[in-house]
Amino acid sequence: MLKKVYSLVAPNKIKHNLIIYPDDTFLVSYPKSGNTWVRFILANLMKADDEVIDFHSAIRYVPEIGTHNDILINTPRPRIIKSHSMYDKTYPKVIYLVRDPRDTYVSYYYYLKKSLPVDISFSEFLRKPDMHPSRWHSHVESWLDKPNISLVIKYEDLLLNTHQEVCKIANLLFKKQLSEEKIKLAIQASSFEGMKKIEQEKGRPFKTEDAAAKATTFVRKGGKGDWANYFSREDEEFLKAEAEHILRCLNYV
Ligand code: PPS
Repeated sequence: MLKKVYSLVAPNKIKHNLIIYPDDTFLVSYPKSGNTWVRFILANLMKADDEVIDFHSAIRYVPEIGTHNDILINTPRPRIIKSHSMYDKTYPKVIYLVRDPRDTYVSYYYYLKKSLPVDISFSEFLRKPDMHPSRWHSHVESWLDKPNISLVIKYEDLLLNTHQEVCKIANLLFKKQLSEEKIKLAIQASSFEGMKKIEQEKGRPFKTEDAAAKATTFVRKGGKGDWANYFSREDEEFLKAEAEHILRCLNYV
């Protein structure tokens, strides 16, 4: 039932309606890993000087496959495309964004909270398979080390070294060297507080009226480590049991 609320892209179906070009780059992440933040930064790097990016305009610069196919058809190439898909070998070039799963699970819990059928505790939510589009570790393991991955960005590195990480992304995507000023302004315009204000003042697009009615604040808490306020010792053990290898590979434990 929840998969209707937030389902993963089914690549085969979508590709019936959309041509994937060899110069497409996909910004792929497990839900709640900071994808919208990176899209905002990219939109600010690509926009005209006098345009102000908000949640409505950002999708024109980095549309989501499946959700914005109508926009994608007319997006100038080379395109940058958001996706939550599990591994897909037909994506020519991929930037994979990853965030500490403990923070993504908490973020997702709050995102779905209004849609949840019953008042469910975080611990129950964490363990219920039908509440998640996939497990975090399955998603990450499906992508890491695949040949079409051009760059892996950690949300936590983006928090700590925003300029350095944005330059890595920009160097991969844009042929022309961007000015320092442009990069600085894009980072500023996509700050957590800035995006929070933009969401409050201009809102964000919804797929249905029902979703709009149930909306939670999207730019919620941000940062890293807030999971510690939600995870019990048992929750930590549960996650470790299913994901320890990949958590260690990414230095999350
Ligand atoms: S989605 O719905 O899957 O596309 O969500 P996604 O955009 O990947 O992730 C949402 C979380 O990113 C946080 N966010 C930010 N963090 C830092 N800086 C900026 N500017 C920013 N903008 C959004 C957002 O608050 C969600 O995390 P939580 O932990 O819920 O706050």
